[in-house]
This record gives sequence, structure tokens and C-alpha cells, in this order.
Amino acid sequence: MHSSQQIIELFQKYVIGNYTRYPVCLASGEGSYVWDTEGNRYLDFFPGWGCDLLGHCPPRVVEAVRDQVTKLIHVPNTWYTEAQGLLARALSERSGFQGQCFFCNSGTEAVEAAIKLARLNGKPGRYKIITMMNSFHGRTLGALTATGQPKYHQGLEPLLAGFAYAPFGNLDAAAKLVDDETCAILVEPIQGEGGVILPPTGYLEGLRELADKHKLMLIFDEVQTGMGRTGRWFGHQHWPVQPDAMTLAKALAGGLACGALVARPSFAEKLKPGTHAATFGGNPIACRAALATIETIEAEGLLERAGSIGERFRRRLETLKPRCPWIQQIRILGAMIGIELSTDGVPVVNQCLQRRLLVNCTHETVIRLLPALNLTDSQLDEGCDILEEVLLESR
Ligand SMILES: Cc1ncc(COP(=O)(O)O)c(C=O)c1O
Repeated sequence: MHSSQQIIELFQKYVIGNYTRYPVCLASGEGSYVWDTEGNRYLDFFPGWGCDLLGHCPPRVVEAVRDQVTKLIHVPNTWYTEAQGLLARALSERSGFQGQCFFCNSGTEAVEAAIKLARLNGKPGRYKIITMMNSFHGRTLGALTATGQPKYHQGLEPLLAGFAYAPFGNLDAAAKLVDDETCAILVEPIQGEGGVILPPTGYLEGLRELADKHKLMLIFDEVQTGMGRTGRWFGHQHWPVQPDAMTLAKALAGGLACGALVARPSFAEKLKPGTHAATFGGNPIACRAALATIETIEAEGLLERAGSIGERFRRRLETLKPRCPWIQQIRILGAMIGIELSTDGVPVVNQCLQRRLLVNCTHETVIRLLPALNLTDSQLDEGCDILEEVLLESR
């Protein structure tokens, strides 16, 4: 076994340096704990950047993968497989809009599929898509252009044509951007990377009305908010609104790479053979892992648990707030938690790491937590004690 130092040296020599990494090599995980190569244990409030919704190595997912890997690892989409069919049915039934699925491997790919579907449905003549400022949709060039944050565009221009950005939450601004060439609106129900920003009352419903009025496709990017993260199967289900399509990834397969576009059949039919594909998309291992994820969420009552996790975090953080005036705002929906600070959040993350608690900072000042839905109350309290100590010390 290599030491952390030896592994870091491998990275310095052989891995492209496009990520800022913490000086820790992780070697194993179970539930909400991970261990580094030296055997130190960390409590993880941000497992897998939201992908490990059931914590590390969830038993049903491990078992499903173990079983599948001995039977069939990969076959392309020229064949039918039971796992892909069952997963598509499971997602469709939970979507509530009879969605049909296209499978891929990541969030950005799911968004690319959505952009293509919107353009194909916009023919002839309509190709423009309205997205929101401060959004995040991925790093491939279409999804990156959809992302309404200029800092991610820098140096990569020219971007894809046909995107216009409205401030998140402002219906009038979105309405003003619609013209004869607009074909779709793409929005995260809750902005995740943008700092856990909840939609104002009536906003998503208002976008639905706008889309209906102008015959636009309404697409929800549920890559971060989907699969029970917020206490409903999909984040938008907290409001009386349905999209024409939604994108999924992150938690979809309990930590394995899997993405999906789920679209109403009347729109989905435009993705005909030859229009789009993903070689690894919908492979039997990812689909079995996703089915095991759904089974675990249901068997363990984790949609309800997401709600109670959110409430317990809220109680802890609201109690802390009066003693910690640099907490500006606490934003929570289920197990999606943002703590807006008036100071830089990076030292908070580093201090937590020193005390073996893993958290994330987004947008410089927002501490973001995406804990596993099977986090126990005692783990939650253990982590909150550390976070509280660190927040009280920082300023
Ligand atoms: C809402 C949303 N869409 C898309 C993506 C891109 O997903 P991926 O990194 O799997 O490509 C992310 C990633 O954070 C996301 O939060």
C-alpha cells in the first residue's frame, strides 16, 4: 500500500492539475465515514459531492453491482437489457409525467441531451434556450454555455449560440427574453452550486405558465436536487408544477456513474435513432445500482428521513445563529443545506477538515452540506458540534 505522500507524488507527476485537492488520500468508506490511507476516520457531510446519497458503499448497491458484474458488465444500446427497462419504468412512475428515459453517464451529458431535445422540438426556426444567472449545468460546452456564470466561460469562447440568461427568481425578466426563436427554459428547481438558493413562491409555476403560453419546453435540471435529496423524489415535487423534461445524475445510482434525461413522450419522440447516443449509457451495472438505490430509499423510508435531517440541521443552526452573527442566512430543503456567511468559507472547510469533518464551500461564502440520507442523529450532532466550534472561532 502506498503512503499518502507517495500517492500525492504520483498525482503531481502524472495527473493533470485541474482540481484543487485536499492533501488527503481516501482509501475506504462506510456510510457517512471515510478513512484515509493512514487509517484516520472522517465524518462526511458532503459524500461524493452529492453522489453518495446513501453514504459510502451502501450494502444493497454493493450487492447489486457484485451480482451484475459476474453476469454482464457492458453491452451497448443495440441490445435490450432488463435492468435498463426496469430503471426507466421506476423513474417514469416516480416522475408523475409518464416520462421516458435516455441514459448517459453524468449530469453534463444529461443536460446536453436536454439541449438537443429542446432544439429538435423547436424545429423549424426555434433554437434559443433561456437559463438562469448563477446556475450550474455542467462543463461540456453546451451545458457550460447554459450555465449562467461568466467565470466558467472565461477563455473558452466562442460558446454555443442561442442562450439568454435571466436572474433566478425573476419571472418578468425571463418573459422579456422570450422571442420567436426561443424553444425552451432550463432551470434548476433549487440552485445548488449557486449556493443552495430556493425558488421564490410561485416562481416555478410561473415559468410553467410562461412555457405554456409560448409553447416552450420547460426543463428542470434535477442533477443535484433529484433522487430524494430534498425529501421528494424530485425537487420540483415540492411545488405544484411539472416539467416537460428533467435531467438526473449524481445520486441516481448510489455513487456509480449514471445520468438520465426523462422527458414526456410527446417531446421524447424527437430523439430518433441517429440523433443522440452514449456508448456506456444505461449499462447494466449502473442500472442495477440505480435500482438498488431506489429500493434502499423506499425500504428505509429515506424520503421522510431527508425531511427530518433538514429539520434537525435547521434547529442546530438556528440555535447557533444568534451567537454567530457572521451566519447571514440558513437555507435548507431536506438534506440540501446552505449556510451563507459574511466571511470567506474556505477557512471554515479547512478547519473542519483538521477536525476530520468534510464539508464544502461554494460561491466563496456558502458552506454547503449534502449529507447522506442515512446519516444518524448522533452523526449529525457529532458533525454539527465540530461545525459549531469552527464557525464560532472563524470570522
Ligand atoms: C444542477 C447540476 N447540473 C449539472 C451538473 C453537472 O454534473 P456532472 O458533474 O455529473 O457532469 C451539476 C454538477 O454539480 C449540477 O449540480
